[in-house]
Amino acid sequence: MASLIGKTAVVTGGGQGIGRACVQALAQAGARVAVLDLSIDSAAATLALLTHPERHLALACNVADSQAVAASFAAVDQAFGRLDILVNNAGTGTGPHDGTTEMYERMAARNAQLARGEAPTVHVEQAIFMEDDGWRSVLAVNLDGAFYCARAALRLMARDGTAGSIINMASSAVQTGEGPLHYVTSKAALVGMTRALAREVASRGIRVNAVAPGPTDTPLMRSIPAEWIASLAKAVPLGRLARPDEIAASVLYLASDESSYVTGSVLVNNGGACFF
Ligand SMILES: NC(=O)c1ccc[n+]([C@@H]2O[C@H](COP(=O)([O-])OP(=O)(O)OC[C@H]3O[C@@H](n4cnc5c(N)ncnc54)[C@H](O)[C@@H]3O)[C@@H](O)[C@H]2O)c1
Repeated sequence: MASLIGKTAVVTGGGQGIGRACVQALAQAGARVAVLDLSIDSAAATLALLTHPERHLALACNVADSQAVAASFAAVDQAFGRLDILVNNAGTGTGPHDGTTEMYERMAARNAQLARGEAPTVHVEQAIFMEDDGWRSVLAVNLDGAFYCARAALRLMARDGTAGSIINMASSAVQTGEGPLHYVTSKAALVGMTRALAREVASRGIRVNAVAPGPTDTPLMRSIPAEWIASLAKAVPLGRLARPDEIAASVLYLASDESSYVTGSVLVNNGGACFF
């Protein structure tokens, strides 16, 4: 197993789901981990699952708020004194006024037509119902937040000459286009950021990669309509959703020296659902 003894990490959105599994994997490999989440209670609940919670840190942080991100990384620096690993995992698929309600209503109506054997006339649409603030709310977390955290991490790594590793949580939706419009757009942009940043910081020995999970059994996944989950699972050749710890295993690989020559890559972990 990869060893991260002596290393420190930040995991955003570590209060549940894939982020929580990443925290557990990194801590088990020996890293000290700072768990950032909107909710301090869920971040603390993740810490409570670890063998030595007192070695780690839980912080409330909205990654879409650049000042909150700067303050959180200052707290991490104060507690740990260095940063080796950033997992940009915090993400959301929906926000207010983003057309999700209308899209789900139309999806149900179209599925009902199909179930009755009728030719479908209902269009499943989101863009025409999406307001500016709905669009921004998802980009603000998934893309701006990842940038704010990457920048804060790089400032610490550059200061100390740390050959760190940054891992961005993308999605196989980048390849399939299946998912909410702003979500898919944000994840595709995150892959672009991964590649540009990987080139930019390679001379410092800092690596930047992305993981592209397929449908994974988390609270986020369970918030979408059951029919949609069923159709996603059916399209996976391995025949099931991923477990969060299966995605965390890819993150652990990219965080560790096992992947010392890997940068700018997208590690696809999706049960064969689609290929990059
Ligand atoms: N579950 C899947 O099928 C799947 C597939 C592909 C990619 N992903 C990506 O993996 C990541 C984790 O997904 P998940 O399914 O575990 O989601 P989840 O909703 O179960 O957990 C996400 C966590 O991020 C936190 N969070 C949300 N907005 C935040 C913000 N602004 N600042 C800080 N924390 C915030 C939430 O509080 C939550 O604890 C996301 O980036 C998601 O897009 C998930």
